[in-house]
Amino acid sequence: MFILGIESSCDDTSAAVSMNTSILSNVVSSQLVHKKYGGVVPELASRAHEKNIIPVVEQALKQANVNIKDIDGIAFTKGPGLLGSLLVGTSFAKAVGLALNKPLLDVHHMKAHIQAHFIDEKEKKKPAFPFLCLTVSGGHTQIVIVKDYMEMEVIGNTIDDAAGEAFDKAAKIMGLEYPGGPLVDKYAANGDAEKFKFAKPKIKDYNFSFSGLKTSFLYFVQKKIKENPNFIREEMPHLCASIQKTIVDILIEKIKKASQDFGIKQIAIAGGVSANSALRTALKTLEKEEDFDVYIPDFQYCTDNAAMICISGYYLFLNDKFASQDITCSARI
Ligand code: KG4
Ligand code: ZN
Repeated sequence: MFILGIESSCDDTSAAVSMNTSILSNVVSSQLVHKKYGGVVPELASRAHEKNIIPVVEQALKQANVNIKDIDGIAFTKGPGLLGSLLVGTSFAKAVGLALNKPLLDVHHMKAHIQAHFIDEKEKKKPAFPFLCLTVSGGHTQIVIVKDYMEMEVIGNTIDDAAGEAFDKAAKIMGLEYPGGPLVDKYAANGDAEKFKFAKPKIKDYNFSFSGLKTSFLYFVQKKIKENPNFIREEMPHLCASIQKTIVDILIEKIKKASQDFGIKQIAIAGGVSANSALRTALKTLEKEEDFDVYIPDFQYCTDNAAMICISGYYLFLNDKFASQDITCSARI
């Protein structure tokens, strides 16, 4: 079965083609226009999606060597995300579906991040059910029990900022461009993670909170700048390594607790922050220390991509869960 996947929920325009659970192409056009604003500007994002969507889809079909007439279904991100951005992908998918009489498959973006684990990857084992997934992106931080390809239960959530937001906001405080997460990761590679200590929040159960950490990081940096105006420049690697370690420790503590309480040792990560090298290393350590089976997607399937939308669409198709031409996108679902 050939699926054309379209992802436009935030600031990446992406199209992919899959054949069953194999990915034939996965084209991502990341919007650079937001860099200087310190965050995604929704209106600029929608305009960039409009400009990118046709060339990105054309390239995905070309790379896959598949004719659009041979596509069996069109999967697109229904939400959650930025409404203007979602509208571009949804309208495009509906138009193609109508013109070529192809079925539509509406995909939940966060579920798709998890379903990226079902993509065929060379020499990579897929998680068996049930498994726990730590879903960490710019908008979400969740612990999910994945019971089946389609059945998932969210057991923990952030009560304020997401983990990716914590990375991005800390980066912004240090004067780094958006998205700051990858830059913090990069600078942290040469830093001492123990140099600066930041208090961790005390939140019940499997929930998270990151806004207090952001505030204490801001106050700490402001205080230090008063003492030494070059503080950020001189301490950048240590600041990055220390804030990264604090965020990763918070995430790891909760996933360990969930694993113990539910007796599930199969642990997966998903979403943009799963590209973080400290988080990956911490999980690899748990694999040895706690006898966990850890599943980490390939880099290209961690951040926003349409390959995961294809896979989600594939399972919707198998379960006869088609969308009609009346479908609308939703910022929150
Ligand atoms: O899943 P994603 O691409 O988009 C959303 O659905 O939000 O996640 C984007 C988030 C951003 O906050 C970005 O800074 C973060 O993932 N991110 C990282 C890394 N790569 C991306 N955070 C820390 N370390 C990274 N290497
Ligand atoms: Zn995402």
